[in-house]
Amino acid sequence: MATKIQNPNKEDKCAIRAFNLRKEFEDLIAVDNVSFTINKGEIVGILGPNGAGKTTTIRLLTGIFKLDDQARIEIFEKDMTENPNKYKMNFGIVPEISNAFSDYTVWQNLNFSGGIYGISKEDIEIRAKKLLNQFELIEKRHFKTKTLSKGLKQRLNFCLALLHEPPILILDEPTSGLDPISAKMMRTYILQLKKEGKTILITTHDLREAQTICDRILIMNRGKIIADESPNNLRERFKSTDSIIFKIDGVLSDDLKNKMKKMFKNLKEKNDYLVFSSSNALKDITKLNKFSEENNLKISDLKIEETSLEEVFIHLINKDSRGEGK
Ligand SMILES: Nc1ncnc2c1ncn2[C@@H]1O[C@H](COP(=O)(O)OP(=O)(O)OP(=O)(O)O)[C@@H](O)[C@H]1O
Ligand SMILES: [Mg+2]
Repeated sequence: MATKIQNPNKEDKCAIRAFNLRKEFEDLIAVDNVSFTINKGEIVGILGPNGAGKTTTIRLLTGIFKLDDQARIEIFEKDMTENPNKYKMNFGIVPEISNAFSDYTVWQNLNFSGGIYGISKEDIEIRAKKLLNQFELIEKRHFKTKTLSKGLKQRLNFCLALLHEPPILILDEPTSGLDPISAKMMRTYILQLKKEGKTILITTHDLREAQTICDRILIMNRGKIIADESPNNLRERFKSTDSIIFKIDGVLSDDLKNKMKKMFKNLKEKNDYLVFSSSNALKDITKLNKFSEENNLKISDLKIEETSLEEVFIHLINKDSRGEGK
């Protein structure tokens, strides 16, 4: 079953174009006319709550689920809708549930997988050694897979996904259940793979992870993509919720507090601090300083807290779930 890898043409900007992906399970629409593009060399994250449709989207994209008539998928500008099998070699998949055989050793799993991809014995040997070194697993090559820790198993899954040298990697929650050190190590591997020129699609629940490694984030909810932007743009769009936090040294009279509340409509007291949200932090801080000077107030501990991606995520999901759209 040695199928040729669709070598990406240097001029092709787009690695994946997916149009109108849709999947129904009985009365549930798991993926609802989802379209997106992924550019060559990008790391794109799909974020969404449990059941949002992330894994189903991946299964449609990689040919595990059959596409319906409206759907279309292009890989490196070539239509693969009609014949997903022909293009599967373009994908290296680290699935949600590993398909490595637990009674096989690391080495046996790599050999078996290489055989399925039609790679010659000599090439399997060369590539497997290289990957096991890259993923710091070489010393475990004769260990049965079931004896490996979760982190080590995940590294084997990466080796299995990369053995046929695919240009696109699809990672379904690759750091889920890993301790912070193993997860960080996995992110370092992922960034290294991007440097090597791989295009990467990753699903994750970890917003910090998405913020750290993704060039673009697709937020999914109830089978739909409700945002498609860079992490910075997403935060930028919700800058109005940046918080200005400060302390007033000494006693603030009720009269001055009321005046302040008139200037900053959503001013609240939080422990020893005063907090208000602002869409233009610089302008509001200048206003606040002027007010404090005029009224002999001393401001201390002033800080701006940027809207976190987590707040943006929760905001978008809640809004969509209330049926209010983007
Ligand atoms: N084989 C199946 N049969 C029936 N329903 C399914 C099947 N696979 C998925 N679903 C349903 O489709 C919806 C989307 O599931 P999916 O696994 O794609 O979500 P997800 O975003 O990957 O969630 P998670 O973050 O929990 O992995 C869910 O409601 C799920 O229960
Ligand atoms: Mg999933």
